[in-house]
Amino acid sequence: MELTNFRSYESTCVDLEPGFNLIVGRNGQGKTSLLEAVYCLSALGSHRAPTSASMIRHGEERAVVRARGVSAGRNLVVEAEIVRGGGIKVWSNKQRVGKGARDRTLTAILFSPEDLELVKGGPEERRRFLDQAAVRARPVTAVDRQEFEKGLRQRNGVLKAAKSNPRALKQLDVWTEQVAASGAAVVTNRLQALAQLLPAVRRRYRQLAAAEPPELVYQASWTDGPVESSLRGITMALMESMVATQSRDLEATSTLTGPHRDDLLIELGGSGARLYASQGEQRSLALSLRLAERDVAAEVHGEEPILLLDDVFSELDQHRRGRLGELVSTSGQTIATATSAESLPLKAGRQLLVERGRLSEVE
Ligand SMILES: Nc1ncnc2c1ncn2[C@@H]1O[C@H](COP(=O)(O)OP(=O)(O)OP(=O)(O)O)[C@@H](O)[C@H]1O
Ligand SMILES: [Mg+2]
Repeated sequence: MELTNFRSYESTCVDLEPGFNLIVGRNGQGKTSLLEAVYCLSALGSHRAPTSASMIRHGEERAVVRARGVSAGRNLVVEAEIVRGGGIKVWSNKQRVGKGARDRTLTAILFSPEDLELVKGGPEERRRFLDQAAVRARPVTAVDRQEFEKGLRQRNGVLKAAKSNPRALKQLDVWTEQVAASGAAVVTNRLQALAQLLPAVRRRYRQLAAAEPPELVYQASWTDGPVESSLRGITMALMESMVATQSRDLEATSTLTGPHRDDLLIELGGSGARLYASQGEQRSLALSLRLAERDVAAEVHGEEPILLLDDVFSELDQHRRGRLGELVSTSGQTIATATSAESLPLKAGRQLLVERGRLSEVE
């Protein structure tokens, strides 16, 4: 893999091996940046920066990441170009990869310390997790999401306009119907993604923690009862809920119930993990969610995605570290970072030391 003007890397070439690769280095030396470089080839963007431009080395105009590998028995060359003011472009064997065709590029799943928010943070993180899983399994679901967001914006616009001009209310029913229909598609996609992920999350947690696995339950903001399973049933329930809260919606000038207010409840030992699980348990849960995401992606693509583990070992106890080590040693390509190799449960196939944006091999 080659990096040019990527964060603190000026020009670097690195060989990674198909098994377990370990990047060690002190704080601020460029460990996360290296994982970010692999990740952006897969996700067409950074996991930690809202705009691609922050990945360009200070004072430069353009960054390039190039990776060579083998995918499904074919040689694959994936290249990302990030231009200041121009966003990120990715090519796979010279063919441009669009947002909707990410299955043509390499697939990487990243676990970073920020992922603790999946468990500890607000519902938005978990909704995004489900939506991303849905898009990975079926890229067309991105369209449902866009339709829903468009409808929601329009409906909220009408609610706002109606404050000063009651005639605007005539438009409300049309958008309520649109939001119910597109929202039902979004919910259905999430439920399908959850059904795929759930067994994998439970299996991964059991392996990692050697403890009772979590329960994951979709929590709808638009019904008190169990969530309907048919598209029609969900559409009806969303309609009913929006009609029932219409006066409150008008007061708040926004749509108060719907998929944009839903959550994914994660329960460990019968209580909500967000409030009751310990730090290490939350970390293990978040890691299980990502590992499950990788399992599902492997099923979908017929190939193990690259696993990127940013500083994961330091937070886990010795047992969990050991089990993660076993897990990693039996699956495809992994790139992990650590500040020191000492407490690591397994020997890396390739170990690299990073110092101020320079990589060197450690024997
Ligand atoms: N666009 C950029 N241009 C130049 N340097 C940058 C850029 N973005 C970040 N850096 C610097 O790159 C360095 C490495 O950052 P990185 O997050 O990769 O470190 P790290 O090895 O993961 O550290 P830690 O162990 O603290 O997580 C930091 O000192 C950061 O200030
Ligand atoms: Mg880091």
